[in-house]
Amino acid sequence: MEWTWLKDWWRLRKWRKDRRPSEVESICFCDECIGNDIVGVFAYLSEVSHGDLELCDPSDISLSPQDMDDDGGKVVIVGVCAMEKKTQSKPMKEILTRLQEFEYIKVIVFAEDVILQKPVDEWPVCDCLISFHSKGFPLDKAIQYAQLHNPYVINNLHMQYDIQDRRKVYSTLDSEGIEIPRYAVLDRDSSNPNDHELVESEDHVEVNGITFNKPFVEKPVSAEDHNIYIYYPTSAGGGSQRLFRKIGSRSSVYSPESRVRKTGSFIYEDFMPTDGTDVKSINKW
Ligand SMILES: Nc1ncnc2c1ncn2[C@@H]1O[C@H](COP(=O)(O)OP(=O)(O)O)[C@@H](O)[C@H]1O
Ligand SMILES: [Mg+2]
Repeated sequence: MEWTWLKDWWRLRKWRKDRRPSEVESICFCDECIGNDIVGVFAYLSEVSHGDLELCDPSDISLSPQDMDDDGGKVVIVGVCAMEKKTQSKPMKEILTRLQEFEYIKVIVFAEDVILQKPVDEWPVCDCLISFHSKGFPLDKAIQYAQLHNPYVINNLHMQYDIQDRRKVYSTLDSEGIEIPRYAVLDRDSSNPNDHELVESEDHVEVNGITFNKPFVEKPVSAEDHNIYIYYPTSAGGGSQRLFRKIGSRSSVYSPESRVRKTGSFIYEDFMPTDGTDVKSINKW
């Protein structure tokens, strides 16, 4: 399919005539609420209106990419393929509602049971695909679907395997010349003993021969696992801070445990003091 016309999409945009008065709401755009990298693509859409997002009916044959609007213009069908927890979240609904405001855009949200149960040739057809992984999402099927219909793919699907593994993310950042803390990987799944050599002392660890003085950070290799521990030096009283996915307003707890975890594979890295500033990056791979 020829996609050059899509580049002119912003020039073609026309607000829906029937849009309701705008109203600004406070929406959380963090990755937790929305998903990894859709934010950067649509966060700049400017006005707000309300509406419920209906899940599409895959048997509705009227949903064809050749759809035309009343004036004979091409309607772009944007397919949203992600887990329900993401697509039905409040911030995501807000983004999609804003997207629907464009006269030439029709949004269809793939139903979760269709994504999970049906073969990809039974998924709705779209011109433009927004699809991202979260727990339980069949990324391999999404890739098969993209190969089948060749839509304009917003989120790089293959890279979504990489962002599930902190080791791959770090090596990508490294190879692109992006600075990251000094780190070492303790890989307990490796059959090579050189990959999981750990020497532990009160105030430092040696991971595969590389020394990390406390404070240092210990991260599970799986990027889906947010149980990150920070170990304090004895001069600061020892113990560790256990970070986790926010529960209410709490995202960490102090533990008197000073020894590192002995099961699982981890990245060890230098602690970067930031005076409490948390830097976020929104990735469009
Ligand atoms: N090297 C580091 N130095 C200091 N704080 C860190 C370091 N790495 C992570 N953190 C803290 O831990 C939090 C979670 O780490 P991050 O790598 O962003 O994992 P997640 O995938 O769970 O968001 C960060 O927001 C930051 O506050
Ligand atoms: Mg983070």
